[in-house]
Amino acid sequence: MNQPTHKEKPCERCNEIFTYKVCYIGVGEDHHEAKNQIHAYYCDKCKVAIEKEHKQAEIKQRQKEKLDRWHKICPPLYRDSDVKRFPPAWKTISQWKPNPKGLLLHSRTGTGKTRMVFAMLRPLFMAGTKIIAFGPADFRTGYSGALQNSMEAASYWVDNVVRADVVFFDDFEKLKFTDTTQEGLFAVVEKRIANLKPLIITTNLTDKGLSGKMDSEYGEPLIRRILEFCTPVGC
Ligand SMILES: Nc1ncnc2c1ncn2[C@@H]1O[C@H](COP(=O)(O)OP(=O)(O)O)[C@@H](O)[C@H]1O
Ligand SMILES: [Mg+2]
Ligand SMILES: [Zn+2]
Repeated sequence: MNQPTHKEKPCERCNEIFTYKVCYIGVGEDHHEAKNQIHAYYCDKCKVAIEKEHKQAEIKQRQKEKLDRWHKICPPLYRDSDVKRFPPAWKTISQWKPNPKGLLLHSRTGTGKTRMVFAMLRPLFMAGTKIIAFGPADFRTGYSGALQNSMEAASYWVDNVVRADVVFFDDFEKLKFTDTTQEGLFAVVEKRIANLKPLIITTNLTDKGLSGKMDSEYGEPLIRRILEFCTPVGC
């Protein structure tokens, strides 16, 4: 094999003449001494620019995938809110960052509680916070579904909910508080609090109204824990 020599050609991106290394193998056949095509066809400046473009495209793709995962958490109705339409409570809510003390948003219906929580959670999610959001039917379906398989499956399901950085219960009072749901809720709330993991809750009811909905042995301690570990925010 001969020693490499240098050749000139126009860059395929900017058309400026650049020098590249070649070495001859066999008869008259030239081979670019390059690990990949980018080195053989582009000038140094364009190589840097192309690598930067590839990196940016990768970042964009990762963000798109993240957004797709966010859309599995946040229903379409709540994805694009105009913060100027939010009530003054938005100031407090928007400043919340994951810490052991969560939030309990309460008000009559239609003041923007659900919207504000999703608007606050979105940037946290995009920054890597693991979030689970339960609509009124989701918790019962998830927990009792797991329980129908086995106690072990239910315990695994609870542990997964406990591991999330933030758990959001939307319209908490609309959960169907069967004994099974209350038992599952108590396990989740108790373990999350013990592990310093916050809950975000929205409700149209007062604490007394909520207690009234839970008549099992778990109801009262559950409400007490929620009130102790979530800062109430009237909306
Ligand atoms: N794009 C929007 N941006 C901000 N607020 C909106 C938007 N669209 C509707 N709203 C308002 O949001 C409120 C309902 O929000 P929602 O979070 O469902 O309330 P809540 O959870 O308190 O019942 C209504 O007052 C509605 O006018
Ligand atoms: Mg709501
Ligand atoms: Zn070039």
